[in-house]
Amino acid sequence: MPGTVILGAQWGDEGKGKITDLMADRMDMVVRFAGGNNAGHTVVCGDDEFKLHLMPSGILYQHIIAVIGNGVVVNPQVLLGEMDDLASRGISSSSLKISCNAHLVMPYDMAFDRIGEVSLGSAKLGTTHRGIGPTYADKADRLGLRVQDLLDEKIFRTKLESALERKNAILVKAFGQEPFSVDEITAEYMDYAERLAPHIEDTSLLIYEALHGGGKVLFEGAQGTLLDIDHGTYPFVTSSSPTIGGVFTGTGVGPGHIRRILGVTKAYTTRVGYGPFPTEQQNEVGELLGSRGVEFGTTTGRKRRCGWLDAVLLRYAARVNGLTGIALTKLDVLSAFDRLKVCVGYSYQGKIYHDFPPHQTIFHKCEPEYMELPGWETDISEVTVMEDLPAEAHKYVEFVEQASGVPVEIISVGPKRTQTIWAREEAAPPVIEEGPYLYREDFDTPDAG
Ligand code: GDP
Ligand code: IMO
Ligand code: MG
Repeated sequence: MPGTVILGAQWGDEGKGKITDLMADRMDMVVRFAGGNNAGHTVVCGDDEFKLHLMPSGILYQHIIAVIGNGVVVNPQVLLGEMDDLASRGISSSSLKISCNAHLVMPYDMAFDRIGEVSLGSAKLGTTHRGIGPTYADKADRLGLRVQDLLDEKIFRTKLESALERKNAILVKAFGQEPFSVDEITAEYMDYAERLAPHIEDTSLLIYEALHGGGKVLFEGAQGTLLDIDHGTYPFVTSSSPTIGGVFTGTGVGPGHIRRILGVTKAYTTRVGYGPFPTEQQNEVGELLGSRGVEFGTTTGRKRRCGWLDAVLLRYAARVNGLTGIALTKLDVLSAFDRLKVCVGYSYQGKIYHDFPPHQTIFHKCEPEYMELPGWETDISEVTVMEDLPAEAHKYVEFVEQASGVPVEIISVGPKRTQTIWAREEAAPPVIEEGPYLYREDFDTPDAG
């Protein structure tokens, strides 16, 4: 089982951080392959909570090599800030490796992210304003600066000059804004370069060597299937490929090593930002899901939109990603309801769609077709084995398996490591430890900050 992938099966925030942290215990390397600091992954270890944006969630373990792959867009200031925060909590980032080919988020990318949203008016996407879209656009436009450019000031400056020639012209002439300065950005990024240089590597080779040597590598997805630029609810998507293909383009590793592809889905649905969401509940059901699930964005603090589980989308995520297993999170949140609804189709102009519709108008305007399942109305947040789950919760899990065609391997009933049920014996690890994160005892000189 050398290569395991963890992917979001919905619109992000499914609990990938928790599941990555759980699985990292048995891994040698954890690799981020897409997105940037638009991601917010929460890991709870004992009484400690970590909110990671660029840093792979495996960083909390002593034995893990944490890798930022080439498909990630890196804001160096944010990354160094995370390293400093971790160091202040006694966690070293010395194992971190950053791909030399990853693209850098530049100050003007963040400016263009804001401008883009303003100019879209009521059609805006509700981005995280982290400059993610413009950075990926620059990459596709062959105007991007890469992590390796930090290692040579002359090359960095030359590339920046050519990018700013175009960017400043637009900023000044079209939007009446102040131009960005080559000197200021170069000086700022060369400061970052000094601290990041020891971490920059050919990570494609590094991961290949790990896999080839029998090492266990976990690929940690960011965002989710419905936010994928190709397979998501375009244009209300992010600008990267959070689906399975992104693992390969975003790391430079071939598919032959991947044995397990785990899709993480909440037992209901949430979405931050704008865009269609057929099962959204703008009523007391949505409010209750939001308050019980504490549904506020990890990165932006925005209130997440909430609704019932959409099994059509889950089956779609299973198909697009070739999921081999599901991690079903936040099942505990559903304990508040006596009846549970699940969407099994979309109705539009007299036709029922059981698959993700081929035209976006259908998805925007359809009415969800619901099936009802009984609730269990008891606290399940301390349940750790399948036998102790109420019969109605078993039914819900069986429904998820039947609807998606994929076995549920992990059931999460709370944010902590211990609040986990390994639904299938063969998937279970020997032990799950509660308590402080596993950390190097010999670490006393933080390398950051
Ligand atoms: P990610 O982006 O997919 O890593 O997810 P986030 O960290 O943004 O959001 C998931 C939130 O749900 C975090 O606050 C987690 O601590 C929390 N969480 C994860 N699993 C569970 C669970 O099973 N039950 C409850 N109640 N909370 C959970
Ligand atoms: P994690 O990894 C939830 C959403 C934004 C917006 C859209 C585009 O924590 O699951 P962007 O800034 O990427 O250009 O915004 O994508 N979005 C996320 N929603 N979780 C995320 O990451 C997200 N990353 C981006 O809210 O709707
Ligand atoms: Mg998140």
